[in-house]
Amino acid sequence: MSAAANPVPAIAVRVWTMTTAGLDEAAVAPWAGLLDATERARAARFVFSHSRIAFIAAHALARAALAAAAGAPPAAFAFAAGAHGKPEALLQGRSAGLAFNLSHTNGLVGVAVAAVPGLPLGIDLEPVDRRAPMEVARRYFTDIEIAWLEGLPEARRGEGFFRLWTLKEAFIKATGKGLTQDLSSFWFRVDPPAIAFAPELAGRAEDWSFAQRIVHRGFLVAIGLCGQGACIDAAWRELDPAGFDPAAGLGW
Ligand SMILES: CC(C)(COP(=O)(O)OP(=O)(O)OC[C@H]1O[C@@H](n2cnc3c(N)ncnc32)[C@H](O)[C@@H]1OP(=O)(O)O)[C@@H](O)C(=O)NCCC(=O)NCCS
Repeated sequence: MSAAANPVPAIAVRVWTMTTAGLDEAAVAPWAGLLDATERARAARFVFSHSRIAFIAAHALARAALAAAAGAPPAAFAFAAGAHGKPEALLQGRSAGLAFNLSHTNGLVGVAVAAVPGLPLGIDLEPVDRRAPMEVARRYFTDIEIAWLEGLPEARRGEGFFRLWTLKEAFIKATGKGLTQDLSSFWFRVDPPAIAFAPELAGRAEDWSFAQRIVHRGFLVAIGLCGQGACIDAAWRELDPAGFDPAAGLGW
């Protein structure tokens, strides 16, 4: 049988990212109207305006992305947190039938959505144009990852660090277990992105698929999912906040 007769199954993941530099409270005020009482209360608790603005932008973007995938209004969604805080999207009190995860970093928010209920899906974002904090790598990365990083030319080490960091975060966010997972029990190869597990974690590397790219000319995004053999078919959409109207729908 030819390989073409038996293609690797793929899971479609839509990834939306939006820059937040230059946004002020007035610009995000209409988006805040889409959030529910819990989200608005969380937004109100931020001491710094820029943190509140990023939170509102991320949650409005997540609602717009879920709305595009489910064909429901952005304000119709509610969220339930899992054991370690990972939110699941609900519609009318039941699972919305979608997997999603969001991330915010200084200057960018992003969300990944797949129409597969219960799919472990994670996303992480980081600005890429920075020096590698090697003391952080030595604390959080495995010996294999540190050796790879140290083998890179100095000029490429910053990007290498954030490639590893976002992949590791995408994995712990996909499982939903966050830092309750032992960071030394899994590690990444970067190009192409692939995970490996220490025997005690009993993970199957072939169950996992990762994708990574640079967006908005300066931010790294990593997404990961446990598709049990299915790979990621990712579609990436970069949004400008000036044209973002979550109530009008995102389209594709
Ligand atoms: C949530 C967590 C997993 C990631 O946090 P983070 O990188 O600061 O934040 P991100 O912006 O990427 O993601 C935050 C969003 O993820 C979602 N989230 C919350 N808990 C989550 C969990 N357990 N799993 C997946 N997603 C989660 C939420 O939507 C949250 O957004 P909100 O607070 O606006 O609702 C955090 O608990 C954590 O463990 N951070 C570890 C940081 C670290 O030291 N990593 C070492 C990697 S080598």
